[in-house]
Amino acid sequence: MAEVNPPAPSTVSTGKTASPQVMDRRSFFSWLSCAWLAFAAAVAASGTTMIRYLFPNVLFEPPSQFKIGFPDDYKIGEVFEGWKSKYGIWVVRSVDSIYALSTICTHLGCTPNWLEGEHKFKCPCHGSGFRITGINFEGPAPRPLERFRVALAEDGQIIVDKSKKYQQEKGEWNDPESFLKV
Ligand code: FES
Repeated sequence: MAEVNPPAPSTVSTGKTASPQVMDRRSFFSWLSCAWLAFAAAVAASGTTMIRYLFPNVLFEPPSQFKIGFPDDYKIGEVFEGWKSKYGIWVVRSVDSIYALSTICTHLGCTPNWLEGEHKFKCPCHGSGFRITGINFEGPAPRPLERFRVALAEDGQIIVDKSKKYQQEKGEWNDPESFLKV
């Protein structure tokens, strides 16, 4: 009777023949790492979006009410330009009043310049001219510059309130809040 040999035990190969299984595992872990990285990136992105949502875009504009010093800080007949870029106003003191003029041209919104030599505001965009009072007299501007509310604070300083404006063509320059009696 022929002797039947039992099947040879499987050998553990240590060479490249076993590598497909090892490679599969490596591929799996590599894939897992990529997946985690992608997941972490997605979480980070959504976190950033959440943070942006919590801190929305805020436009930092100058306050509508602010103090500009004492009446005696302004000279009679002078156009004070110190607040032009910060607050968008010129402060003018006449013999008996102080008023705050808007620096926005009433034509298309450019910023005129005060020309001391010619004693007028001149808009560089289309040439409109305004007198020291704010009245338009040349160029395409259809109406005078606007004025803002001025009042005296308890400490004696002038407060300008840009949320209230006064238009000459509507007769609003007669409003006692459109100028300060000095
Ligand atoms: S914007 Fe000032 S003249 Fe046109």
